[in-house]
Amino acid sequence: AGCSELAGYRVLITAGGTREPIDPVRYISNRSSGKMGYALAREALRRGAEVILVTTPTGLPLPEGAEVVHVESADEMYEAVMSRFDAVDVVVKAAAVADYRPAAPAEQKMKKQADRLFLELVRTPDILAELGRRKERQVLVGFAAETNDLETYALDKLRRKNVDLMVANDVTQTGAGFGVDTNIVTIFDGRGGKETLKLMAKEEVASRIFDRVIQILSNSCD
Ligand code: C5P
Repeated sequence: AGCSELAGYRVLITAGGTREPIDPVRYISNRSSGKMGYALAREALRRGAEVILVTTPTGLPLPEGAEVVHVESADEMYEAVMSRFDAVDVVVKAAAVADYRPAAPAEQKMKKQADRLFLELVRTPDILAELGRRKERQVLVGFAAETNDLETYALDKLRRKNVDLMVANDVTQTGAGFGVDTNIVTIFDGRGGKETLKLMAKEEVASRIFDRVIQILSNSCD
């Protein structure tokens, strides 16, 4: 493989916001559209990778040629990712995984009762942190969507979760983050490197991310 190609590599990408069930008809979720993850999947396919896309329901067209694994909750995403981790070379965790889920989802639809309802939440597993603990040869890429102190939080996550690249975006900026087709990101690596990209299409952001992934994989494209 050359310095822009991913032929022969298996790339797992997660996309979308997880849905944490409250009862059979309700869930807690977030504003993630899945667009960044799907753009990453298309770009990895274009570069010749074998792509596994682990996705929550997004309504986006499925990338042609990817193996698609449908999940909803953080727990389901955890299972889907962990069971495939040994077989892949790169994991890009573009999904917005809920940090908390309802402790005990109701088996039947909840009825209206008192004026106030208290819902007990418990932490979900941190999938990326667990991958960071287990990783041997894999290249791990995380995303950090922040509203403030971008660099501090992104670098903290990079180290704490033991990832190779952290892609940080300030979701309060126009043209960045949820729902839109563009993004404004800064890519941090584990060696103190920092690259701030201008506003660009998510497709182009995906391309820049894979340029760096390939550098790490091949070590000879610096
Ligand atoms: O939520 P947080 O900002 O910590 O997310 C940073 C990265 O960690 C993202 O790539 C996200 O997909 C991943 N993550 C995860 N499991 C969680 C929370 C976050 O894999 N429970």
